[in-house]
Amino acid sequence: MIIAIDGPAAAGKGTLSRRIAETYGYHHLDTGLTYRATAKALLDAGLPLDNEAVAERMALAVELAGLDRDVLSAHAIGEAASKIAVMPSVRRALVEAQRAFSKRAPGTVLDGRDIGTVVCPEAPVKLYVTASPEVRAKRRYDEILGKGESADFDAIFADVKKRDERDMGRADSPLKPADDAHLLDTSEMSIEAAFFAAKALIDAALTK
Ligand code: CDP
Ligand code: CDP
Repeated sequence: MIIAIDGPAAAGKGTLSRRIAETYGYHHLDTGLTYRATAKALLDAGLPLDNEAVAERMALAVELAGLDRDVLSAHAIGEAASKIAVMPSVRRALVEAQRAFSKRAPGTVLDGRDIGTVVCPEAPVKLYVTASPEVRAKRRYDEILGKGESADFDAIFADVKKRDERDMGRADSPLKPADDAHLLDTSEMSIEAAFFAAKALIDAALTK
């Protein structure tokens, strides 16, 4: 079983994917971390973000085993990740590793931007999780406040919109729902309600 979960930043993909993976005993890959790890390797080495051949080399060296969102959470890493994510050879390298991961038994959950459209178009369950930009910015804002740090809502809102434009507007693998994806708008949905909606779809696919 492969479960493909796509959608824009802070839509709730990660929260939902982790819960599904735990419930069904599947392996989970947050594919955003592969772009972030590539970006961090470039930043740490002081290498430019606009040289595709150099970025591709870093992408080929990314190890899926040690990926950790806490280590890769810095804002600068996210920004750099979304810049190198427009490069076709970076995407090719990371997509190959993601596809290999998706075949692990007994099943996998992959979340990102292009799982249902490019990485695993054959996935029996595809979800496109979304929410309004305002709601998504508020979620990120609350997350930062929850860590006891200060946050500027307007800056976060602007950032969410900029990230959406970059993800949806790129030529290679833009963010969009696969034709056969189920849409899940979580703007006014609790995490619990989103999980049960997803569970119903997965259970239906498993009994087919
Ligand atoms: O992975 P992605 O960036 O799509 O989002 P996430 O990290 O799973 O969720 C972003 C934040 O929204 C987290 O703090 C979640 O707890 C929260 N969330 C929510 O409040 N309601 C939902 N239905 C889904 C997520
Ligand atoms: O920072 P945020 O939580 O919004 O996104 P992320 O999931 O950590 O991914 C970082 C960046 O990698 C995104 O802005 C996308 O540009 C890119 N990405 C992608 O192009 N394709 C994926 N399958 C996953 C992430």
